[in-house]
Amino acid sequence: HLKPIIIEGPMPIEAEKFASQLKNVKIEKSGSFVFYKGTLDNYPVIVAKTGKGMENTAAATAIAIEKYKPIAIINQGTSGGHDPNLNVFDIVLGKNTTNIGSLKTETKDENQGIDATQWKPMDLMASEGSAGEDPNAEKPRFYEGNKDLLAAANAVKNKYTKGKVVEGTIGSADVWNNEVDRIKWFHTKYGTSVEEMEGAAAAQISQAYNVAFLGIRVLSNNKTNGGKYDPTTADACQGYVMEVVKKYISTN
Ligand code: 5AD
Repeated sequence: HLKPIIIEGPMPIEAEKFASQLKNVKIEKSGSFVFYKGTLDNYPVIVAKTGKGMENTAAATAIAIEKYKPIAIINQGTSGGHDPNLNVFDIVLGKNTTNIGSLKTETKDENQGIDATQWKPMDLMASEGSAGEDPNAEKPRFYEGNKDLLAAANAVKNKYTKGKVVEGTIGSADVWNNEVDRIKWFHTKYGTSVEEMEGAAAAQISQAYNVAFLGIRVLSNNKTNGGKYDPTTADACQGYVMEVVKKYISTN
């Protein structure tokens, strides 16, 4: 039997539009996670409404893989810009996705303060030993977007008319950064194009099971260039991801 493609969206506005365009939909729930099992162009596609954040996303991804044995997973939705050249409604394809909440602080004694600019990226997947003690863990972990999914996404770029579509790096953490200097710090240290709260969790679990993964994120806001929050970007992103999935189905 055909293995389904899973499309993840954290919030209702990031999942329900896509789900409404599937045929033969059956809704299944597991915990707080909602799976819309249907078809697109006669191919099995499942929309997962995961809820926001890394924990919900990791759990929903693991459950979806165990239950539905997908061929591929796309995690998509809104994001905040880290690159001043990207505007609200532009879309970033995650050539890389990375956890920007995984950090190690400097060693300081009582009353020596807190200095987040000195924190180091920490790679929890560097070894099975203590990440706090392992110098090899002092780096970001990048999860690469699957090349077939990226190829499908690049092939339909021109169908998206509300902004540009670029490859880049998606940074994830359960943090909403509004400090422009901190955003710049991530942009320089990790090369982040955008931030959100789910992609790296989904990428990590997809890799654990060897399932093809891609993050696709529309900018709903950008602190670095004054881009004001616009929730209607979520719809635009789902429309584009629909084209990506159709392309992927027709070529793979
Ligand atoms: N920072 C963090 N998360 C953001 N999101 C949209 N913009 C941002 C931003 N600037 C997304 C997250 C989460 C919800 C708060 O919206 O992925 O699901």
